[in-house]
Amino acid sequence: MTTRRRFTLTQYLIEQRRRFPSASGDFNALVLDVALACKAIARSVAFGELGSVLGNPVADVATGVNVQGEEQKRLDVVSNAYFTEMTEWGGHLAGMASEEMDHPYQIPSTHQRGKYLLVFDPLDGSSNIDVNVTVGSIFSVLRAPQAVIDSGRDVVEADFLQPGTQQLAAGYALYGPTTMLVLTVGNGVAGFTLDPNLGQFMLTHPQLQVPEDTQEFAINASNTRFWERPIRRYVDECLAGRTGPRGKDFNMRWIASMVAEAHRILMRGGVFMYPRDTKDPSKPGRLRLLYEANPIGFIMEQAGGRASTGREPMLTVEPTSLHQRIGLVFGSRNEVERIERYHREPA
Ligand code: AHG
Ligand code: MN
Ligand code: MN
Ligand code: MN
Repeated sequence: MTTRRRFTLTQYLIEQRRRFPSASGDFNALVLDVALACKAIARSVAFGELGSVLGNPVADVATGVNVQGEEQKRLDVVSNAYFTEMTEWGGHLAGMASEEMDHPYQIPSTHQRGKYLLVFDPLDGSSNIDVNVTVGSIFSVLRAPQAVIDSGRDVVEADFLQPGTQQLAAGYALYGPTTMLVLTVGNGVAGFTLDPNLGQFMLTHPQLQVPEDTQEFAINASNTRFWERPIRRYVDECLAGRTGPRGKDFNMRWIASMVAEAHRILMRGGVFMYPRDTKDPSKPGRLRLLYEANPIGFIMEQAGGRASTGREPMLTVEPTSLHQRIGLVFGSRNEVERIERYHREPA
């Protein structure tokens, strides 16, 4: 008997490692630990309100207000704990940073420290949890500065302030009708679907590519009055449809889970905008550079799409703080380039 053979995530990582004959396997082990955390989160998400009934830890968790001033959901806290607990013991990490932790997380002295930094948004779109809409986790892997690796010292904020071009890997898990993991290790983008029987991520989308053109955009239109002129112009032209300057009709989507929008765009194209706006002068954008914009930006670029602040490529931005917010535009290349062009043109 022959079975239809699909690669597992582990097999994919081993294949990718063959490109680096001297690689130790640390990196692969780290990604597999992250994948395990994502599987655990997928289970917690799936139990929903039943969590307490079945002895799931979710109900007993203490929540607070995170460093961005957001009320944490219980699942924000639980997901963060899954990430730290499942990755800290392996000996691969020098430290971590997360949306839900004000300061960098130190690998306990009882564990070995390694050469990578893990940065993550443990649960993206968590305002959608209560309404049972798709959420996800986003992560990015950086190399720790050599001084950190050599000394094994505690990590500090500055160690994480590396531009997105320095990312070694980025990915997200999506907790939707099916659980998926989408990953780039800098050699294209691969999508894996969790086989619930085997508990394994199976390679189902080997080479994801974002179509260059699209007729679909995503933006929170309730912020229209705060947008800058180039974004207004772009959206107005989309809304004008086939009789307007674009000469075609556009469709619109807004899920309010950026990770789910990113996935839709990877599957069928589109453009996502959470641009810099004038809503709150202390917040230059809604989304966070290190654990939202950069990992999604890396994935988009690796899939032939583009990610930008509107003014410059996202991945070249020099970060200034751990929880820095930034205007974000990503998706189909020709649309993102058009939006960048509108930012360059005089008003
Ligand atoms: P998070 O749940 O990690 O805090 O991120 C939420 C983000 C993002 O996923 C989404 O696109 C955006 O917030 C939604 O913003 P609006 O509430 O303005 O629609
Ligand atoms: Mn949040
Ligand atoms: Mn988020
Ligand atoms: Mn989050």
